[in-house]
Amino acid sequence: MRDRKMALKDKNTTGLNRRSFMKGAGLAALAGGAVASAPSSSLAQESSINIPKLAGGKYDFDTPYNRVGSDCARWDSPALRYPDGTFKFGMGVASMDFECAPCITEALQERVKHHSWGYLSTTEGLRKGILRWNGERHGVDLDPESVVISDGVYPGMIAAMRAFVPRGSKVLLSTPAYSGFYTMARAANVEIVDSQMEYKNGRYEINWDDLESKMTPDVRAMIVCNPQNPTGNVWREEELLRVGRLCLDHNIVVLSDEIHSDVIRSGHKFTPFASLPDEAVVNNSLTFNAISKTFNLAGMKNAYYYSKSPITLGRVNQYHRAELSTLGVVANEAAYNEGGDWFDQANAYMDENHTFIENYVKQHMPSVGYTRNEGTYMTFLNFGKTMSSIGAEEQYMSHDKPSPEHFFQDWLVEHSGVYLNPGADYGSGGAGNMRMNIASSRLVIKEVLDAMAGAVNKV
Ligand SMILES: Cc1ncc(COP(=O)(O)O)c(C=O)c1O
Repeated sequence: MRDRKMALKDKNTTGLNRRSFMKGAGLAALAGGAVASAPSSSLAQESSINIPKLAGGKYDFDTPYNRVGSDCARWDSPALRYPDGTFKFGMGVASMDFECAPCITEALQERVKHHSWGYLSTTEGLRKGILRWNGERHGVDLDPESVVISDGVYPGMIAAMRAFVPRGSKVLLSTPAYSGFYTMARAANVEIVDSQMEYKNGRYEINWDDLESKMTPDVRAMIVCNPQNPTGNVWREEELLRVGRLCLDHNIVVLSDEIHSDVIRSGHKFTPFASLPDEAVVNNSLTFNAISKTFNLAGMKNAYYYSKSPITLGRVNQYHRAELSTLGVVANEAAYNEGGDWFDQANAYMDENHTFIENYVKQHMPSVGYTRNEGTYMTFLNFGKTMSSIGAEEQYMSHDKPSPEHFFQDWLVEHSGVYLNPGADYGSGGAGNMRMNIASSRLVIKEVLDAMAGAVNKV
């Protein structure tokens, strides 16, 4: 504990002090919130864990939970990138700002009372949680033997690429899509082929002719991202069936990434690929999932994959090895078993955030293009007009930036303090867009939108 205290103290002297940082961020205006009431030390959240209290059965998602100074990728990484202090709001990386479900903290506290950290003997409790969650939440009845526990979606996906996509062969992807798929492909030494979606009537739609034309014999796997990050699409059963049948016809294995499957907006329904009413299509697929988005447990390194086909599963397993941590297992098990109510409330809150942002952007930032999300806690905003006005296309190269969107990312930080992810990172179709994470207190979201509107409406 002393070492940790010292480390955080050092950080305070190097500019990551929570209080001064958040004051700079304008969040000090949120009097009565976590920021205003936080003790001066960065250790506040670490030394006295505040499990949010239920008031009338409700969790508090409004009071901003301050993550600055906790080595968190969402807030602390951009702060290092912009040491001049211009950065204020981390709205890029896909993690939630909410304090986690109390059952997770309680389970961890209980476990740390036992002071020994040797190898784990079993993950059976975790497996039971995964099976129950899939049955109750997604109507998927999984054979326990078919579920392989992993330390992330990445390792499972990379193993699957190694198993099905020999070097020199390719993986197909509907884009814009999660930038990490390109990273996974690099790790597996394979190439990604983009099939750019069409933007029709406010929704990203698969361009079927283009998709099929890209299903050449050297394409051996297709990643289906459902819900789609960053566009927010929740794929309909008929769309998934069509993709699945095309893949089957072209001898392509489906890798269905369903990590965002719990974060579904009201009025939409998530369809697991493994629940499709076509056995051959289902047997030609693997599903990758986790509750790391659902409960903000990305740092706890836990995920799983499954296939209804033991042969398909066996091929991937040859290339896969998970390294789980005891605390990760404890945290995930608690979330599966006891976290449902917390998540349902968090999901409803995020749904309202989406509506709030849609109304705000349409009313106060008319030059910004808005796409209505069906799922995920991302929103993909089109800043194409602002980018044109500031000459992003003409200037990005001379500023040593890989794309106009990266140039705009810096511009937006400089003019509003808001850090978003550049659309160019999401493959073809990302141009003009920036991805914003909406899993924050609405008070923070409002400040972020006000700051962006102030910048964008001036040009
Ligand atoms: C679609 C998608 N897949 C995978 C991941 C990363 O998964 P993991 O951290 O379990 O490797 C993310 C993280 O944002 C994601 O959005």
